[in-house]
Order: sequence, then C-alpha cells, then structure tokens
Amino acid sequence: MRILVTGGAGFIGSNLAVDLARSGHEVVVLDNFSSGHFDNLKDFPGDVVAADVAENQWFAAVGKVGAVFHEAAITDTTVLDQKRMMEVNVEGFRRVLEFALKYKVPRVVYASSAGVYGNGPRPMKETQAPAPNNIYAFSKKVMDQTAACFVKRHPRMKLIGLRYFNVYGPRENHKGGAASMIWQLAEQMRSGKRPRVFKYGEQYRDFIHVKDVVKANLCALNGKKSAIVNVCTGQGASFNRIIEILNGVFGFSLAPDYFDNPYGFYQDETLGDPVAAKLLLNFQADLNIERGIESYIGAQHGVPA
Ligand SMILES: NC(=O)c1ccc[n+]([C@@H]2O[C@H](COP(=O)([O-])OP(=O)(O)OC[C@H]3O[C@@H](n4cnc5c(N)ncnc54)[C@H](O)[C@@H]3O)[C@@H](O)[C@H]2O)c1
Repeated sequence: MRILVTGGAGFIGSNLAVDLARSGHEVVVLDNFSSGHFDNLKDFPGDVVAADVAENQWFAAVGKVGAVFHEAAITDTTVLDQKRMMEVNVEGFRRVLEFALKYKVPRVVYASSAGVYGNGPRPMKETQAPAPNNIYAFSKKVMDQTAACFVKRHPRMKLIGLRYFNVYGPRENHKGGAASMIWQLAEQMRSGKRPRVFKYGEQYRDFIHVKDVVKANLCALNGKKSAIVNVCTGQGASFNRIIEILNGVFGFSLAPDYFDNPYGFYQDETLGDPVAAKLLLNFQADLNIERGIESYIGAQHGVPA
C-alpha cells in the first residue's frame, strides 16, 4: 500500500516509516525538519516531502495514498507559545483531514497523547474527562474533539486516535531535553553523573517502547471502526525503579540526586488502562519495562538483549 507518514523524520514517525517500508509498503514521509532529524531517515528508502503540514501546498506532492499516519506536531511539552502550538498541532491535523477527504483516503491514524488526562484519576481511561494542564495537552484534546466531529460528518472514513503514553526507544536522540526520562537518565549515568530526578523519584510513568507504539499503529490499520484509544502497557514504573534498572544494565551503583520540581504543570503520574486498545484494535504491548530498557540501552552499551 502507498502510505503517508507525517512527522516521519521524528522519533516515532521514523520508526514507523522504516518499519512500514521494510514490510514492503511504498512510504512517503512528510516533515518540515523543525524538531526531527535526517539521521532518523538514513535507512529509509522512500520519498521525503519537506513541507509544513499546517499548509496545503504538499497535497499534490504526496498524491493518492491508502492510509495516513499523522505524527507531525510540536512535541516539546515545555513550549508555551500557544499560537504556534495550536497552528501546528490542531490546524496541521485539520489539513491532514482535508487532504484525506480530497484524495478519498479511507483511513487516518493520528497521534494523540496521555497528556490529555493531566493529573486525572489513574488508571487513565478513554471515557474520563480530559484535564489538559499545558498548551501541548490542550492541542491534543482539541485534536480528539476535531476527530470526533469529523467522523460524525464523514462516517465512512476510519479515524483512529492513539493516546500514546511515555514512549522511549531508538531514534529519540534528536529530542534532547524533550526525549524520554529513560534517555535523560541513561545519558547522565553513561557520562558518570548521578541521575537527577525531582524529589523523591517516586513519580511514575507508563513507559512504552517505541516498538510497541509501531505495533499499535499497525493494529490501527485493521481497526474496524473509528476510535480513540490508549497506547500504554498498563504498568507504571517510578523514576527510582528506572534508575535501578539502568544501574543493573550499566553495572553501576549511582544513587539518585533529588532536586525540587520547578514546573507548575508537571504530570506526576501516568498510568493507562489498556483494555480499549485490546478490545478495539487487538493491541497489547509486548515489552515490559525491564526487557524494553535492556533491549534499548543495553544494546547500545554492548549488553546482549
Ligand atoms: N514521544 C512520546 O512520548 C509521545 C507521547 C505522546 C504523544 N506523542 C505524539 O507522537 C507524535 C510523534 O512524536 P515524537 O516523539 O516522534 O516527536 P518528534 O518531535 O521526534 O517528531 C515530530 C516530528 O514532526 C515534525 N514536525 C513538527 N512540526 C511540523 C510541521 N509544521 N510540519 C511538518 N512536520 C512537522 C518534526 O520535525 C518531527 O520530525 C507527536 O504527535 C507527539 O505529540 C509522543
């Protein structure tokens, strides 16, 4: 199938684009290279359209496709520029939907986020009220609402929103400060420093390996109806636990260096309910946190997975 992956130079988009191309699909990547990196596409054999997703000049360059995976977005949750965030994330999504209508694309899978739940009750369920506490999370909430309105008007199109939890894994280096906590802590420890975490490292995350996120997107290709579902493991791991696992992988015994949290809008705990994804997409994560970190950081450190 001919497939468009927006944001394909980014962390998740490049993992997905390369995987789809390896499976024999003809993949077109669209990216404006604002936060993504060409390094992520060095082994990608398909076409790359350099364009801003929020504009519409790219429609003809991409042309007819059988499905769209929409990953392009401003992804740094500390960006406070509301105008830019909404223009890229919400209007960019609207352009993708317009493109899908114009070219009669039967299926659009897009990246939403666990950020929409804010500090809402855990485990976070798709049915609970969104509580976004920054402009990034708000933009994802608006995307979900836009999707819900769109499917009412165009019921024949399959529109699947994936609320990714905290994704980690290969090809996230370019994100630097916005990369996963696992990447941040591993970088510090690799350079011999004590891992720095907010007091007292008990915050936890539903970390999910990017391989499983790619798997969820592939499952969404076969989803029978439009839906918005969590992409999570259903298991939480505290920052202290991550440090413990990393110490094991590296063979270190570095103690955490705790400091005060400077952010007013921090999401202390994320934990997803994976039931809807299993029911609607037959998706279930394969890697638990121990195996995920071993295969990611351990492989880079010469430890066989
Ligand atoms: N990584 C996570 O933990 C996580 C969690 C929840 C949701 N998400 C969502 O998943 C998607 C992918 O995130 P990621 O982690 O790969 O981030 P990323 O920053 O690595 O990738 C985003 C890509 O979008 C591109 N982009 C940004 N603005 C664009 C524009 N106007 N036009 C065209 N391309 C543009 C960037 O250059 C980049 O390549 C995003 O929608 C993000 O919000 C990610």
